[in-house]
Amino acid sequence: MEYLEVGKTGEIPEGTMKAYIVQGNNILVVNYEGNYYAIGGKCTHMGADLSKGKLDGKIVTCPSHGSKFDITTGQSISGPKMGFLKLKTKNEPSYEVKIEGDTIKVNI
Ligand code: FES
Repeated sequence: MEYLEVGKTGEIPEGTMKAYIVQGNNILVVNYEGNYYAIGGKCTHMGADLSKGKLDGKIVTCPSHGSKFDITTGQSISGPKMGFLKLKTKNEPSYEVKIEGDTIKVNI
């Protein structure tokens, strides 16, 4: 595990998120109330791109079937909704973030 540069703070205004690929890992970086958080960027259900979903506070909703994840922990808050089925999905990996100047680094 080492801190690797993913991007610059100016790329992610407060209340927004951005996807990066670092050494083959899909990483979603979120600016939540001025702090940066990083979780896995592909939904644990069927791999949709979470950066195309909706961010509401610290909760990101998957664009495909609506799973919700806490971006501060990666925890799955609710699973996919498919018809009448209520399913569960795994937590996202969560990565430590370090800011150096205007550089965002993630511990991968
Ligand atoms: S791919 Fe994300 S909820 Fe199905």
